[in-house]
Amino acid sequence: MARHANAHPAGGEALRLVSVGKVYGSAGNTVTALDDVSLTLRPGTFTAVMGPSGSGKSTLLQCAAGLDQPTHGQVFVDGTEMTGGRETTLTKFRRERIGFIFQQFNLLPTLTVLQNVTLPLRLAGKKIDRKHCTTVLQRVGLGDRLGHRPAELSGGQQQRVAIARALVANPKVIFADEPTGALDTRSAHQVLALLQTAVRIYGQTVVMVTHDPIAASYADSVLFLADGRIVGRLPDPTPEAVAERMTHLGDMSQRRVSSEV
Ligand SMILES: Nc1ncnc2c1ncn2[C@@H]1O[C@H](COP(=O)(O)OP(=O)(O)O)[C@@H](O)[C@H]1O
Ligand SMILES: [Mg+2]
Repeated sequence: MARHANAHPAGGEALRLVSVGKVYGSAGNTVTALDDVSLTLRPGTFTAVMGPSGSGKSTLLQCAAGLDQPTHGQVFVDGTEMTGGRETTLTKFRRERIGFIFQQFNLLPTLTVLQNVTLPLRLAGKKIDRKHCTTVLQRVGLGDRLGHRPAELSGGQQQRVAIARALVANPKVIFADEPTGALDTRSAHQVLALLQTAVRIYGQTVVMVTHDPIAASYADSVLFLADGRIVGRLPDPTPEAVAERMTHLGDMSQRRVSSEV
């Protein structure tokens, strides 16, 4: 694994948000999606983010990953500020240090499995190490599917291609927004086990939005979000403890969460 001399200049912080706010819309018609969120995550941790639909989970991930700019506040990934910088610098940093996994996989349908995985490297102008890419695909159990197109794979397999694509540049932080939301139980387990391995074996940091207490229980801790604020944190989560905590976020919230797809 690549080591950087300044890997953790901020004293071992993979992710730090300082009073991050995000307001959508313009005067008279605004929505506060994030309301002064501050948090610090250490390297090599697996954090689940839970909360009712509309509580700001996706906005939090997008802002933390540099896919969106907060209205105010600062975001640091691996000690480097993601906010207020130049777009080109940000894009380069994002490609090298951050992986993102979406609920709907977001694979390119005309490319093969291997081409989908090498795409981020090509976009970054990196030399394609075919052997490394193949090794990553073997790691996610798809070593025999290199030439397949996404449509020829199951949902679970497609999500594992997306994980390989996120892992191939060896990112410091991997963000996943409901990565198991479209999967059956068995495929979900495979995906969650891969994320756990990224943390436990490879020392990467994973931040995962989910509405499923079982998925959340794979994480080291759960952050609870309501109305754009962090309202709780649960270490060593069990599915039962997570479900219990979710009910305390309110009956209305609980109904909205369970109807969220
Ligand atoms: N692009 C957008 N424009 C306007 N409002 C938005 C936009 N994206 C999200 N929102 C609003 O911000 C709030 C948080 O949304 P989101 O982060 O998607 O929540 P979650 O992922 O928890 O369901 C919601 O009220 C949502 O309607
Ligand atoms: Mg969302």
